[in-house]
Amino acid sequence: MKHFLDIHKTDPAELRSMIDNARAMKEARKGRPRGTPDEGSPLAGRMVALIFEKPSTRTRVSFDAGVRQMGGQTMVLSGADMQLGHGETIADTARVLSRYVDLIMIRTFDESVLLEMAEYADVPVINGLTDRTHPCQIMADVLTYEEHRGPITGKKVVWSGDGNNVCASFLHAAGQFGFDLTFTGPSQLDPEDEFVGLARKSGSTVQIERDPVKAVKDADLVVTDTWVSMHDSQSTKERRHNMLRPYQVNEELMSHARPDALFMHCLPAHREDEATSAVMDGPHSVIWDEAENRLHAQKAIMRWCLGV
Ligand code: CP
Ligand code: NVA
Repeated sequence: MKHFLDIHKTDPAELRSMIDNARAMKEARKGRPRGTPDEGSPLAGRMVALIFEKPSTRTRVSFDAGVRQMGGQTMVLSGADMQLGHGETIADTARVLSRYVDLIMIRTFDESVLLEMAEYADVPVINGLTDRTHPCQIMADVLTYEEHRGPITGKKVVWSGDGNNVCASFLHAAGQFGFDLTFTGPSQLDPEDEFVGLARKSGSTVQIERDPVKAVKDADLVVTDTWVSMHDSQSTKERRHNMLRPYQVNEELMSHARPDALFMHCLPAHREDEATSAVMDGPHSVIWDEAENRLHAQKAIMRWCLGV
């Protein structure tokens, strides 16, 4: 069973083939209306369940559009409306869904929900974000970087801000795609030691640098994300903002990176908090390509899962 649960759980050569396939599929449909089918309709006859226990714009629309472009059918489900939210076990839900659909994508809170779904489903399961990781996003980010600047291997990526779920998947990708990652942020919000250790074990240089200006020196890519994630309590907002303000990505900070450095943000963004509009809409930014590439990267992930 080919689940797509996390980047570090997927073979590097297979990750590479997904990125290459995403790029080829994107190229093949360039200039065509969004609703036209891809050649060969690789998901014809396939039914895909998209389950959301948290809000989503990009993941929801890009998965739905991607399945339809490939000739498959989707059902978008809210976790709260399913029996999942009313006591039925994840294992039983997985067994039942496996009798109706060919593929399950789930966005949830606790990673254990995703893992239990994958353990008991007879069909592939894709991680559409948990409190801990967001692998589909970083596949799109690698695709985006490489479209603009060529191979990401050996490059220096700097994460500025909260060492959250998106940062975690960047660390996983560092290990699998062979780039280096510098984290800059307050020590209270460091990424998990386990994930830092994994990236280092795979041969990546991972540095923790409290000074954001020092951190971004020689950066090929600067990345940030919201200061308050969906799983964070709103009561921590003020404390988080105070801790994270020195790590805002603004033009001053970007001026210390390489002149050709890219800027990414998975979105949704809180403009003038984690990043200024001057950076988000400025010459380094590739955030709209990044959002578009969710579609292409996930299409490749789904094809890989289904072997089509
Ligand atoms: N980046 C991302 O996953 O966005 P959504 O929360 O809108 O899906
Ligand atoms: N870290 C953010 C990412 C949203 C796509 C969150 O989990 O809310």
